[in-house]
Parts: sequence; structure tokens; C-alpha cells
Amino acid sequence: MQSARIIGIGTYLPDRRLTNRDLEGMVETSDEWITTRTGIRERRLAERGEATSHLAHRAGLAALADAGVEPADVDLLLVGTSSPDMVFPSTAALTQTLLGLGCPAYDVMAACTSFVYALHTGTTAIESGRARTVLVIGADALTRHVDFDDRATCVLFGDGAGAVVLQAADEPGVLGIDLGADGTGADMLRIPAGGSAMPCTEERVREGQHYLRMAGNEVFKFAVRVIPKTAERALAQSGLTTDDVTWLIPHQANQRILDTVADRMGMPHDRVVSTIELTGNTSAASIPLAMGDLYTSGNLRPGDVLALVGFGAGLTWGAAVVRWTKEVR
Ligand code: ACO
Repeated sequence: MQSARIIGIGTYLPDRRLTNRDLEGMVETSDEWITTRTGIRERRLAERGEATSHLAHRAGLAALADAGVEPADVDLLLVGTSSPDMVFPSTAALTQTLLGLGCPAYDVMAACTSFVYALHTGTTAIESGRARTVLVIGADALTRHVDFDDRATCVLFGDGAGAVVLQAADEPGVLGIDLGADGTGADMLRIPAGGSAMPCTEERVREGQHYLRMAGNEVFKFAVRVIPKTAERALAQSGLTTDDVTWLIPHQANQRILDTVADRMGMPHDRVVSTIELTGNTSAASIPLAMGDLYTSGNLRPGDVLALVGFGAGLTWGAAVVRWTKEVR
């Protein structure tokens, strides 16, 4: 059986910055509250006219260039997102055209876990022999679904995209993946209106039902419970333990979640990758963005073991254990 390994990474953050100071002028909040409760200092916002497919395009392009892969050689494009450009066509189809690819393309939607889910789909396609080269992108513009009058949510999110190129190899790269979902927690984190259950009407828009709603405390407890469990299951599949992990790369939702998880897993905090300060919660983009940061800073070495761990609305969760095989950048 073929294995899948990562041969390229690309990231993209829009230029427009929104700092905590900017937010102080918009809602009743403070830089001090946001920093101590979340670790976030600033986040990026998609430019006017820039949609999720544009973010995905920029990250995808960078990943293909990094991998040295031509568009004609991509067999499958997967875009993990929960802020698609529109209900249909899929963001992946739109991104496929922007990238000049000719391959099948589809979205994978599992909220902030979308990238790990998409990585699973791409890995499975390669292991089954149905694809040789897969472009996996995590991209979200969740600030388009946030109520900028609601201080409980508007301080948390940012926009961005990250991508990896997966390719068939004899040497194992993606070692193990654990995924989970529990729809009984659907109410914890959702955008109620705009789908088939509750189409957008003037009244619903007036009530703000088209905005993201979150029971922050509940999601926090869920996150710190599920991250160690799913990581340990993916590690066990890979024949490894936490001690073998060089870098833990969790979904970047809150610095306090990262710190709590590090303590629960007995991981030194400097082995837990954090980029939240400058990006906020970029949903499906956060794991590949953090990986990209590690890569461009020269901190990824061949042989390193990465544990990528996502969690989010659904509820959904998942972890992928990756052995890094690419030479130092
Ligand atoms: N500025 C100032 N005060 C605020 C703000 C703000 N921006 N937001 C909330 N507060 C106030 C509240 O009103 C509350 O005031 P009260 O005590 O007078 O009622 C107080 O601060 C405490 O509020 P909590 O909600 O209890 O604050 P908490 O410490 O739990 O932090 C937070 C809130 C940051 C949202 C945290 O719960 C969290 O990070 N949860 C996890 C979020 C997460 O992981 N989301 C993943 C999304 S992934 C996806 O799938 C989209």
C-alpha cells in the first residue's frame, strides 16, 4: 500500500489587520481582557471582494510552488471550509478554476476540524491508489459570519488559509488519523439561519440569526477534554506516544486551551505551536497556518513527529500524526 506524505506547504493571510485596540472602539471590551482571556492581539480580515476561494487560491498556489508540483499533476483538490463563497457551487470548484487545475474538487465541511477531515480524505485517496497527488486546503472567512456588535464572539475570529500537498510515497508520512463527531452538541456552536432549516428572511436577519452563536464556556470544556483523547488515539494508531511528539499543533482557538491541553498531556509548552496572537481563530485554516509558520521559521526537521489536532462545531474533532520528511527549508 502507498503512503501519503506532505511535500509542500503554503499559507495566506489577508493584509487587513484588526487589532484589539480597534475593537475597543467598536464594542465594550479591552485589549487586556482579550489578551488575558484568549491570547489574541490581532487578526486579519478578508478584503472587500475577497471570498474564501480567493484565500484558498493564494494558499494553494504557494503550496504547489513549495512542492514543485505543476497544476496538471494534481489528481484531487479538497477544500476544508465552513464559510463557503456560497451554498453552491462548492468553494473547491471555484478554487480549482482560480488555480487552473483540471481535477475533481470538493469541499469538506467539519467547522474548525475541516482541515483534519480533509487531510483524512486526501490520505485515504492516496492509500487506496485512487490519487497520487492531492492538494488539501483549509480556508475560512468566518469574520463574514460574526456579529461585530457581539463582544463575546467578534474578538475571537480572523480570516486566512493554509494548504499542503500530499503525495504518494513508499516512506510513511501521515501515520495515523482519528476522527470523531457528536451531533448532540450541535447547539453549542452554530450559525442558525441561512441554511435549509432556517432560510434567511428579513425578520431573521433583524434578529441576527445569520450570525455565529457560541456557548464559549461549553466549547472550552469540550476542547480541553477532546484534544488529548483524539491525539492519543491517533498516536496509538501510529505506534507512538505523547513522548514521541516533536510538535503538537492544535486548532488555534484560545491560548488558555493550548496551555490547559499541554498540561493535561504532559507536554512542555514550548512544544505546543501557538500562532493565535497574530491570527485569532482562523477555523479550518489555523492548523496549516501554524504548520506553515513552523516550516518557514526553519523549525521543522526531517523525522519530526507532528500531532495536528482539530475541534469545532458539529461537534467534531480529529487528530493526524505526521512524520515530517521534507528537507529543511
Ligand atoms: N470583552 C470584555 N468582556 C467580555 C468579552 C469581551 N470581548 N466577552 C465576554 N465578556 C464578559 C462576559 O460578558 C462575562 O461577563 P459577566 O461575568 O459580567 O457575565 C465575562 O466576560 C466572562 O465571560 P465568559 O464567557 O465566562 O468568559 P470566558 O473566560 O469563558 O472566555 C471565551 C470566553 C474566550 C469565548 C472562552 O470561553 C473560549 O475561548 N471558549 C472556546 C471558544 C472556542 O474554542 N471556539 C472554537 C470555535 S471553533 C468552530 O468550530 C467555529
